[in-house]
Amino acid sequence: MGNNLLKGKRGIIFGALNPDSIAWKVAERAHEEGATLTLTNVPVALRMGETQILADKLGTEVIGADATNIDDLNNLFIKSMEILGGKIDFILHSIGMSPNVRKERHYSDLNYSYLDKTLDVSAVSFHKILQTARKLDAINEWGSVVALSYVAAQRTFSGYNDMADAKALLESIARSFGYIYGRERRVRINTISQSPTVTTAGNGVKGFDRLLDFGERMSPLGNATGEECADYCITLFSDLTKKVTMQNLFHDGGFSNMGMSLRALQQYEKGLNHDCDCDLDVDAEEHKFD
Ligand SMILES: NC(=O)c1ccc[n+]([C@@H]2O[C@H](COP(=O)([O-])OP(=O)(O)OC[C@H]3O[C@@H](n4cnc5c(N)ncnc54)[C@H](O)[C@@H]3O)[C@@H](O)[C@H]2O)c1
Repeated sequence: MGNNLLKGKRGIIFGALNPDSIAWKVAERAHEEGATLTLTNVPVALRMGETQILADKLGTEVIGADATNIDDLNNLFIKSMEILGGKIDFILHSIGMSPNVRKERHYSDLNYSYLDKTLDVSAVSFHKILQTARKLDAINEWGSVVALSYVAAQRTFSGYNDMADAKALLESIARSFGYIYGRERRVRINTISQSPTVTTAGNGVKGFDRLLDFGERMSPLGNATGEECADYCITLFSDLTKKVTMQNLFHDGGFSNMGMSLRALQQYEKGLNHDCDCDLDVDAEEHKFD
């Protein structure tokens, strides 16, 4: 049950593909809190995914947009303001994709046109959304924009590949644009660094099940779920966090401040039946995509 935290607010949610998507859960929670919103995704996802089902459930509309295409973004903002009857109060950027990860390219053997695509879709799209919104003056004063990130932006995680670089850029854009948009129009911009979460994008990361287990064992509060991430997004869209901007906010059960936990150590000891040096003998080919 909602508390009307977003009553009267209008939002745009990028990236709801299916019920596992974090964006799907955020859209449901925002609706529950009294917001009106439009949903958007790239046309191919609208054909393959279930976004229209969510729109029907929430009584709202889907507007197709490739978040890397400025014409699509202009159309998205103009149509959303028409449908919702005014300027936008909150935006969720919940977009990530890496062709290098999909094609299992090793980080030391990246395809650079794939890297361009990773950065454009997963990070530069955030800049494009903000720049388009600002030019159209589409966001109300004290509006709130949130993008979803991952701790691999700060620390190295085996298998996260070029998405780590994309997340570092994403977080930097939140700071740089947060300064300009905050100073000029009091719009706040933040990233939430979320725990590993079972979704279509999450499952694409090599060794994702182990990453999930490791996060669970390392975090004193356990991994944050998609539903909990949605709750956190609602607080940032609400008027209760009006002076929070230009931040990367960890939402990970404490993981990012841990070094080693007892639970992880115990699990590690179970598998420790030889000396560390043995690892050096492991066939490099076996770890090609690590
Ligand atoms: N799942 C995790 O473990 C996890 C952890 C931390 C952060 N995140 C981040 O959360 C966000 C949402 O991912 P998710 O886990 O809910 O997976 P998801 O696969 O449900 O969502 C990713 C979305 O990006 C959309 N997308 C891809 N290319 C696009 C484009 N050109 N234009 C517009 N949309 C496009 C997809 O259609 C999809 O809806 C991503 O930024 C992801 O990196 C996920």
